[in-house]
Amino acid sequence: MENFNYYTPTKVVFGRGTEEQVGELVREQECKKVLVHYGSGSVKRSGLLDRIYGSLDAAGIEYISLGGVVPNPRLSLVYEGIRICKEEGVDFILAVGGGSVIDSAKAIGYGVANEGDVWDFYEKKRQAKACLPIGVVLTISAAGSEMSDSSVITNEDGWLKRGYSSDLGRARFAVMDPELTMTLPKYQTASGCTDIMMHTMERYFNQVENMELTDGISEHLIRTVMKNARILMDHPDDYNARAEVMWAGSLSHNGLTGCGTDGGDWASHQLEHELGGMFDVAHGAGLAAVWGSWARYVVDARPERFAQFAVNVMGVEKGTDEMETALRGIEAMEDFYRSVEMPVNIRELGVDPTDEQLHELAEKCSHFRKRTIGCVKKLDVDDMYRIYKNALG
Ligand code: NZQ
Ligand code: ZN
Repeated sequence: MENFNYYTPTKVVFGRGTEEQVGELVREQECKKVLVHYGSGSVKRSGLLDRIYGSLDAAGIEYISLGGVVPNPRLSLVYEGIRICKEEGVDFILAVGGGSVIDSAKAIGYGVANEGDVWDFYEKKRQAKACLPIGVVLTISAAGSEMSDSSVITNEDGWLKRGYSSDLGRARFAVMDPELTMTLPKYQTASGCTDIMMHTMERYFNQVENMELTDGISEHLIRTVMKNARILMDHPDDYNARAEVMWAGSLSHNGLTGCGTDGGDWASHQLEHELGGMFDVAHGAGLAAVWGSWARYVVDARPERFAQFAVNVMGVEKGTDEMETALRGIEAMEDFYRSVEMPVNIRELGVDPTDEQLHELAEKCSHFRKRTIGCVKKLDVDDMYRIYKNALG
C-alpha cells in the first residue's frame, strides 16, 4: 500500500426532502450574497429551483441567479459568472445541478478569488490560491464533483476540455436527495452510472499490490452500481436503487477508492475528455465507448489485475489462463454497458470521426505531444491514436 492523504471536507446531507435545509446550510456559511447557478432548465421544470429560492428566502439569504450551464460546461459562461459575482459582491456559490453546473461553479469561484485569467489554472500554467466557497444541491448521480477536488471546463476557443484539481474547490456541503434524480432520462442515468463505475475503475487499474481493503471497497462499489443501474433501467422511481447509486457516486470520486493506490490510470478519462470537447458527447457514454479499446490495448501490462477484476467484479469463472480470464472480464464489462444501452464504441456513441479527426483527438489528448497518459501502460500520442482508431467500431 502506498502512503496517502485522504481529505473529504464536504458535509453530506443525504436523503428525502433534504433540499429543504439548503437555506439553513447556506446561512451557516455566514455569507452576504449567493449566486444560485444552474443548468438548461431541468431544475425549473421539476420545480426544484422554486423550492430552493423558497428555502433561501425563509432563511433571509440574499441571492442572484445564473442559469444556462450546458453539459461539457463552457468557459464563456464561467467568464460571465465571474463578472456578475464581482459586480454584485457575491461571496458564496450554490450549484443546483450535476457535474457540469458544479464544475462551472468551481471555475467561477476560482475566477473571482484570484487575479488574472481563470483558464490559466486549467492550462496548468499556475495554481489557484483561493476559491469562493461552494455549496451543492445534486440532481444527477454521475461526476462526483459534489465531493471531488476537480472541475472540468470546455474552452470554445479550440474546443479544448481541461480539468483542474485543487482542494480549495471542494464543496462546503452537498445536499443529496435521491428522489431528485428520478426525473433523469434513461440515457443520463446509465451514463451517470458508467461514470461512477469508471471513477473507481480508473483508480483500481494501477501498479500497486497489497490493497485488500481498498480493492474490496472498490469491487463492491462497482458491483453495487451495476446491480442498481440494471434496476433503474426498468424502475426509474426505485428510491433505494437511486440512493445506492447516488452515494456510490460521491464515494467513487471523493478519494476513498484511491487510498493506498498510486493514483490510478485515468487514461480513459483523458481520452474521453477530448471526445467531449470536440463532439459534445455525454461524458459517461464517451467513457463506455473508449474503455474496451483502452483495456485491450493495455491488458498485457497487467493481466493479473484484469483477471482479478474479471473474477471479483464481473463474476467471470477463474480459468487456468490468466490472460483469457482477463479478456473475458473486459467482454463482460462491455456486455454490461450494452445491457444499460451504453455504447461500446465511438460510432455507437453517435459520432463518426474522420481519420484526420482521430489524429486531432490524439494531438489534443497528448497536449500537443507534451505529455503521456496512463499508468498501467504509459501512452504517447501514437498509442492514443491507435486506441481511438480501435474504438471506432
Ligand atoms: O442542464 P439541465 O437542464 O439541468 O439538464 C441536465 C443535463 O442535460 C440533465 N439533468 C441533470 N439533473 C437532472 C437532469 N435532467 C432531468 N432531471 C434531473 N434531475 O442531465 C444532463 C447532464 O448533466 P451534467 O451536469 O452534464 O451531468 P454530469 O453530472 O454527468 O456532469 C458531466 C460533466 O462533469 C464532468 C464531465 O466531464 C462533464 O463535463 N466531470 C467532472 C468531474 C469532477 N468535477 O470531479 C469528474 C468527471 O470525471 C467528469 O469529467
Ligand atoms: Zn468521469
